[in-house]
Amino acid sequence: MKIILITGAYRGLGLATAKQLVAAGHRVILTARDPVKARAAAELMGAVGLALDVTDDASIAEAAREVAERFGGLDSLINNAALLLDGSIGVLDLAMDDFLATLATNTVAPLRVSRTFVPLLRKSRDPRIVNVSSGAGQLGDGEPAMSAAAYSASKSALNMLTQQLAAALPDFAVNSVSPGWCRTEMGGAAAPRSPERGADTIAWLAADAPAGLTGRFFLDREEIPW
Ligand SMILES: NC(=O)c1ccc[n+]([C@@H]2O[C@H](COP(=O)([O-])OP(=O)(O)OC[C@H]3O[C@@H](n4cnc5c(N)ncnc54)[C@H](OP(=O)(O)O)[C@@H]3O)[C@@H](O)[C@H]2O)c1
Repeated sequence: MKIILITGAYRGLGLATAKQLVAAGHRVILTARDPVKARAAAELMGAVGLALDVTDDASIAEAAREVAERFGGLDSLINNAALLLDGSIGVLDLAMDDFLATLATNTVAPLRVSRTFVPLLRKSRDPRIVNVSSGAGQLGDGEPAMSAAAYSASKSALNMLTQQLAAALPDFAVNSVSPGWCRTEMGGAAAPRSPERGADTIAWLAADAPAGLTGRFFLDREEIPW
């Protein structure tokens, strides 16, 4: 049984991941920036609901204080919360405020949250950080993304942070995951994958993947190029 915290988890892939991890017997701390939504979603599945706005240092510190008080440590952190503000808007037309907000939530926030929770993760025998990235951030393989410049750049930068954190935390498993295009509020109804399918590799990395796998990028439990 692991203690696992997920950000942005009252809906979408975070919620599907929380359900899978609870069903597997783990203690899940389901967080959302709205504490009412966090508690409501958590109660339905037997998780613990907690307020956590990933862009707010005070909120992150308070969540860490509560986790320390109630659990004494943490085994896995899943940085799942993200924004997509610039779907079909081109890089030359994108509002700079939207670009900055996207980086703040999708890239800077996972670093803020990870740094705050590292002391609690160090108490685990098998500490893990899972950064929920995207194929849109891939640079080395396939067609370059020609839309959603802010979102894509934020996920490429998140992947670099995964590598940096993996190097800085040699006793941890720190990995990125691409869930594939999934039917959530962000992915839309036309997406080919269910949230459950996207959540599978996120849950696997947080709980079951071999502990020696670190500093890598996964899709469907297989390593993929950055
Ligand atoms: N769906 C896809 O096809 C797909 C594909 C590739 C990657 N992903 C990635 O998968 C992850 C989950 O996406 P999803 O599809 O489940 O999207 P979603 O349904 O839009 O969920 C995103 C979640 O992030 C939360 N969030 C945003 N800003 C936050 C903040 N400052 N603090 C805390 N929570 C915040 C949202 O809560 P609020 O309501 O409070 O904003 C929401 O719960 C994201 O990292 C996304 O980039 C998704």
